[in-house]
Amino acid sequence: MPRKIVVTSALPYANGPIHIGHLVEYLQTDIWVRFQKISGNQCFYFCADDTHGTAIMISAKNKGITPEQLIDGVHEEHYNDFKRFLIEFDNYYSTHSSENRTFSETIFNRLNAAGSITKRSIDQAWCPNCKMALPDRFIRGTCPKCKAEDQYGDSCEVCSATYQPTDLINPRCSNCGSTPVLKQSEHYFFKLTDYEKQLRDIFAKGYIQESVSNKLDEWFNAGLKDWDISRDGPYFGFKIPGEEDKYFYVWLDAPIGYMASAKNYCDKNGLDFNAVWNGPDYELYHFIGKDIMYFHALFWPAMLVGAGFKTANKLFVHGFLTVDGQKMSKSRGTFIKAATYLNHLDPEYLRYYYASKLSAGIDDLDLSFEDFINKINSDLVGKFTNLASRAAPMLKSKLNSRLGKLDGEGKKLIDTIAAAGNEITQNYENLNYAAVIRTATALADLANRYVEQNQPWTTIKTDPEKARTTLTATLNAVRILTIYLKPVLPAFAEKVERLLNIGKLTFADIHTTLQEHNINDFERLFERVDKEKVDAMIEESKDTGDKPMAAEPTPAITAEPIKPECTIEDFAKIDLRIAQVVKAERVEGADKLLRLQLDIGGIQKNVLAGIAQAYQPEAIIGKIVIVFANLKPRQMRFGLSEGMILASGPGGKEIFMLTADAGAKPGAKVS
Ligand code: MSP
Ligand code: ZN
Repeated sequence: MPRKIVVTSALPYANGPIHIGHLVEYLQTDIWVRFQKISGNQCFYFCADDTHGTAIMISAKNKGITPEQLIDGVHEEHYNDFKRFLIEFDNYYSTHSSENRTFSETIFNRLNAAGSITKRSIDQAWCPNCKMALPDRFIRGTCPKCKAEDQYGDSCEVCSATYQPTDLINPRCSNCGSTPVLKQSEHYFFKLTDYEKQLRDIFAKGYIQESVSNKLDEWFNAGLKDWDISRDGPYFGFKIPGEEDKYFYVWLDAPIGYMASAKNYCDKNGLDFNAVWNGPDYELYHFIGKDIMYFHALFWPAMLVGAGFKTANKLFVHGFLTVDGQKMSKSRGTFIKAATYLNHLDPEYLRYYYASKLSAGIDDLDLSFEDFINKINSDLVGKFTNLASRAAPMLKSKLNSRLGKLDGEGKKLIDTIAAAGNEITQNYENLNYAAVIRTATALADLANRYVEQNQPWTTIKTDPEKARTTLTATLNAVRILTIYLKPVLPAFAEKVERLLNIGKLTFADIHTTLQEHNINDFERLFERVDKEKVDAMIEESKDTGDKPMAAEPTPAITAEPIKPECTIEDFAKIDLRIAQVVKAERVEGADKLLRLQLDIGGIQKNVLAGIAQAYQPEAIIGKIVIVFANLKPRQMRFGLSEGMILASGPGGKEIFMLTADAGAKPGAKVS
């Protein structure tokens, strides 16, 4: 009986492009799904964009567009990137959808009815200037432990300490620089603690890999905690039923997005969602990275149990990508976007390379470019492609493109290759793709040796029928090896199917052979990789301004966004005046700031100006400058700033104040 399987990958955040780190996951999943499909099982692969939260709201605002516009654009980009990497979803949906809203409300209401939701008041960081609650990632300040500056509100990237945002020294809003204040607010909590027993039962049934069970013990030993599932407006997300300005936290509705994607697919295809998602006939698997295990191993199954839905059979957790042994980095050019990769290299190279490195554990996976070039050139091109390119053109030019019959030796070769079928399917099933690739390359070595021993290029002159027999075995070897590699290399497999003039290969075809059959013309399979192409890709990925961003490091649009339109009336509101610097001094603890006292024709204003690296305070006392005099005073970390002086330049030492000659009268209007 064919199995029925539903598979998901984590939903990528909609505030950044797909990069080669993400692709570890989507390729791992796609290979597994393709394997299931060509093994004759029914398998649905569902995914979606994860579209809610503060980060997306702020990105959209900074770009001058609505969050809906932002997520629509990103959806298309993500979908295209995946498609070009031959990642084939049955449905790629969005968490900002009516299905997801309905399921989120249903699950929340059911949990509430079950007594698993409580409300309590908490102190939250609030930016008085942005008028919004600040998630930990939107507060930056000095690490309380190692004193490194400019660290996130929840953890330090220098010393790896984790802490509360209130522990930060000199905290400030990463959006506007103001000092956050604490504000009380009622929040909803999900009582995770109520589900400890059910969670332990689920784990006992094999919900997680052996290799991650230690992590779970750690969490249980530390004690489960209630989970804050609400956020105050302004927020981009779903409103909590019965509330005016409270929303579901993005992580509440994100995994529910798996269900929304499934539901949307079922409705479009006349399938019964309850059977597919919640019935006993379908197995369910979630593929995720190790960074989001807590959500998928604890919160998510507990929510499902509490709301009366079935939980997944298993989580498949993978490790993180490193490049040449280090974290991906924009300055080193190793933060490579899917789209940038595709400007230079064939997607199947990366599919093959990742497959050759992936196994079931949560160890990190390293992409070493030297190894990458080597594996592609020596194995993919030198072994697999080579077999076909040695045999097919000769069969066409000298033997009318017709396969003959297998002789004893040829049969032995094909039997040996086919005998690995069981081991290979087991390894696919258990996510040991590296073992699949190892076995397949060893078998390709065997087939290449067979060709060398039988020398068809010699026998073609002396005994053409012997040559035909050799080429027949060689192309049958290609055929079975192609089946083995088809989940990894679907485009390659299609070319081989065309070449062999056959229908779509499946795993069942391992047990048959192709004899006395006409083949088609040979088309090129894989080219070698030049190091220059890899270098060019790294060059294109280099970005020297490694600007830290909250949540996801790269915005979807990389150019500095142009702000929303400003009318001439808006512009006329700005009151520019001549002013004289009366006092100038350094600001302790802020090496970029000078505190200036300005005289604007009798009116005195204090201004904090970021020009300390370009100007000595003594040198500017008495200077005539131009000031934006009616700027709303802003409370900054180092005091109140009541205006802004006009200056320009790239920053640091290169900032140039706009000065006027000494005769200009302080207070005079500038137009
Ligand atoms: N939006 C959440 C997931 C919600 S699922 C209900 C999220 N998004 S993400 O875009 O940051 O990551 C999506 C997936 O890609 C995650 O499973 C994550 O682990 C994986 N990866 C992101 N960067 C990665 C690497 N550098 N290496 C390997 N996988 C990585 O998390
Ligand atoms: Zn702010």
